[in-house]
Amino acid sequence: MGRKFVVGGNWKMNGSKAQINDILAFLKSGPLNQDTEVVVGVPAVYLDYVKTNAPANVEVAAQNCYKAEKGAFTGETSPAMLKDLGVNWVILGHSERRQIFGESDELIAEKVAFALSNGLKVIACIGETLQEREAGQTEAVVFRQTQAIADKIQDWSNVVIAYEPVWAIGTGKTASPQQAQDVHKALRDWFSKNISAEVANAIRIQYGGSVTGANCKELGSQPDIDGFLVGGASLKPEFVNIVNARQ
Ligand code: PGA
Repeated sequence: MGRKFVVGGNWKMNGSKAQINDILAFLKSGPLNQDTEVVVGVPAVYLDYVKTNAPANVEVAAQNCYKAEKGAFTGETSPAMLKDLGVNWVILGHSERRQIFGESDELIAEKVAFALSNGLKVIACIGETLQEREAGQTEAVVFRQTQAIADKIQDWSNVVIAYEPVWAIGTGKTASPQQAQDVHKALRDWFSKNISAEVANAIRIQYGGSVTGANCKELGSQPDIDGFLVGGASLKPEFVNIVNARQ
C-alpha cells in the first residue's frame, strides 16, 4: 500500500493554556510511532502557542481558514497568516462547519483550493448524516462532496480526506470497521474512476467519528483506512494509543 498512516487530533473549541500544557506533555512523552504522521487541530488563538511548544514530531493544523489572502473579512484567518506562524496544515469542511456555520460544498472546495495554492496541506472532511445513511444516500453524498473539491483542484498530493459519518461524531456510535471500510473503498474506487489510478492509490483517507483507544486497532487494520481524525479522545492521553493503532 505504501500510504503513511496519518492521525489527526481535532480539539474543536476546547482547551485552555493549562489544558494544552497537559496535552503537550502526553504528546511529548508518547512514545509516538515514528511511522505515523501526527497533526493536532488547534483553536486559532492557540496556534502560535502550540506551534512553539509542540514536539517536533507533531504537526499543527488550523481548524478553518478563509479563501482570501487578506482584507475586510472580520474574524477570519488567511492561509498566509497560518504560514507566517509555521502552521502547515488546515482542517476544512468539518461537518460542524457545514452544519452549524452553513458552509456549502462549493465554499469548502474554494477554501481547499486556496489553501493548497498557498502551500498548506489540507484535511478535507466529508460524511453523511444519519438521515442520509438511512435513505441509502451515503455514497451519493460523499461522492458529491468530493466532486465539489475535484472541480476546483488538480493536485491531490497535499490532501488527506477525512471520512466522518456525522452520526458517529461525538456520539459514541462508531461506524463498524466494515461500514467504514466499505465507504473508504467506495471512495478509493471513485478516485480511480474520476481522477486517476495513481491518486486513488496514493490518497490517504482517514476515518473519524468516536474513535477511541479501544476501537482504533480494528478500524486501523482495514485496508483502506489510512488514519483517523479524532475529536474527544484527542484531548486525552489515549490519543497516544490511537496514534500507535498500527503498531
Ligand atoms: P469525535 O469527533 O472523535 O469526538 O467523534 C471527531 C471529529 O469531529 O473530527
